[in-house]
Amino acid sequence: MNSSISQELINEIRNSIDIVDVVSSYVSLTPRGKNYFGVCPFHDDTNPSMSVTKDKQIYKCFSCGATGNVFNFIMDYENISFIEAVKKCADMANIPLNISFKSISSSNDKNKNLYEIYDNSCKFYQNMINTAAGKEAKEYLKKRNIDDSIIKEFKIGLSLKERTMLTQFLSKKSYSKTDLLRSGLILENSYGINDIYIERIMFPLEDLQGRVVGFSGRIYNKTDNSKYINTKETDIFKKGELLYNYYRAKDEARNKGYVIVMEGFMDVIRAYTVGIKNTIAMMGTAVTKSQALTIKKMAKEVYLCFDGDKAGAHATMSCVDELMKIGVMPKIIRLENNMDPDEFILKFGKEKFLEKIDNPINVMDFKLSYLKDNKDISKSEELANYVNNVIKELGKIEDEVLREITLRKLSTESNLDINFLKERLTSEEPKKVLSKEVEKPKEKRKLKGYELAERNLIYYMLLSKDVIKVYDNKAVILEDSLLRALAREISAYYHKYNNISMADFISYASNYENINKTLNEILNLDLKDDIDMNVISDYVDTIRKNQIEKQIKRLTKQMEETTDDEYRKKLASRIVELKKQKLI
Ligand code: UTP
Ligand code: MN
Repeated sequence: MNSSISQELINEIRNSIDIVDVVSSYVSLTPRGKNYFGVCPFHDDTNPSMSVTKDKQIYKCFSCGATGNVFNFIMDYENISFIEAVKKCADMANIPLNISFKSISSSNDKNKNLYEIYDNSCKFYQNMINTAAGKEAKEYLKKRNIDDSIIKEFKIGLSLKERTMLTQFLSKKSYSKTDLLRSGLILENSYGINDIYIERIMFPLEDLQGRVVGFSGRIYNKTDNSKYINTKETDIFKKGELLYNYYRAKDEARNKGYVIVMEGFMDVIRAYTVGIKNTIAMMGTAVTKSQALTIKKMAKEVYLCFDGDKAGAHATMSCVDELMKIGVMPKIIRLENNMDPDEFILKFGKEKFLEKIDNPINVMDFKLSYLKDNKDISKSEELANYVNNVIKELGKIEDEVLREITLRKLSTESNLDINFLKERLTSEEPKKVLSKEVEKPKEKRKLKGYELAERNLIYYMLLSKDVIKVYDNKAVILEDSLLRALAREISAYYHKYNNISMADFISYASNYENINKTLNEILNLDLKDDIDMNVISDYVDTIRKNQIEKQIKRLTKQMEETTDDEYRKKLASRIVELKKQKLI
């Protein structure tokens, strides 16, 4: 919702900054002709498919169709709201803007109750850890070197041993039983409705916008076969999308130019306690494509620092592959003696950990040692297996130099001729070509003449008030109802603000869901920007003729259906008239 800031101020802020500067602070751009090109951060792009136009102050991706003005770019890149993006730009432009967006976010959401339940539960658990009943949990955390400031920062709380504490607390706030059960914090059994979390230290899990949407509860005072219990997936909690600590880490990661990905959230909290704040954690599962895309957006460099054990090495392998598929070449950190980052930092301290970060392993060296692990390559069969596996992994690498270096290493190790290895590698190649093919945009339905005319006319209305004037004066009526609504809104915008600009209209349209999607379709048109008023007249004419044709069809149908001779005559002469008009 833009309602708290005027359209004029939004336009002023947008006009004070250049989209090219802003986008290039996120993605590296290369100038080509009038435009700038870069790798699109919104899909698994490996070639530059996104263009940024200085004239129009918009970006668009030819492959996935992502498009918009500078606000949309920041919103989608940082997973923030429109208002927050406007605020960011106002800060860049040094324009004071006094708004608080905590109250705005999610106030309109269909899952409002769920977010509220989580917000309240989180506060409830936080209060509990500070009561007398929380003494033992606090001691446990203290033993793990987690002090009160960290407990507060990460909103760590406690669920008590009484089984209905949270249920009672939330029931008093008059949430429906359906909502309580839907939240995944309350369950129903033969005793009635009860809390799910009993006697656990509660670590809130926040979504990419920083809202609490789940918990991971850790045992601390007994033994149990599940160390952590995570909330089940709900409408607001999607494990495969969120990354622990994303919201806190994103600015730090961008500023430092790198993000460190860890396995467990305790590792992230530990790193934070020593001032390393650009870290995130997977939620105990393999990295998904959606998470990989989010990681890619966080910083130029990605470091994977998973647990030092076998499982950690395995997780590293699969994360590397997922990242490489979207064109990210991560750097690898491996910790000795099966340690996880938490243990390593506790034992050796921050400096030693940063030394590790300064000396990462490259992807292929990591893969070589991973594939060699537990293999006796003095045995022909195991050596053959090893060589084949390395070749297969090399097939995924695009960097020619890294390929060459690795081939040499492999040649020395295996005592096989480098040319032989090269040939083997080339025979792996064809698969890569196939995967490139998939990136091509889908074939769209071929549009009819008037459909194109309607769309093109709107495109040019966004570029020039002269075109809007033609639209107004000729009283153009578009066939498609969504396009019709959009054209009307553009004209209304022009009359209200006495101005038109594609980029400003995009901000305006973000208020109106119904025109937003259609606007995106228009922005994705591949049209030249010079306006030829003769062409505009042709569009208008095509649209008019289509309207007449549709009317003739309607009248003809009526003529066939009517039994009234007088009426039929009237219709007939009206049709003749329309046919004449069509010829003009
Ligand atoms: P780890 O077992 O490595 O946890 O699991 P950790 O970070 O070392 O935790 P501490 O130090 O023992 O407290 C890594 C991640 O796997 C998930 C959690 O998300 C955890 O952060 N996990 C682990 C579970 O979901 N359930 C479990 O029982 C264990
Ligand atoms: Mn641990």
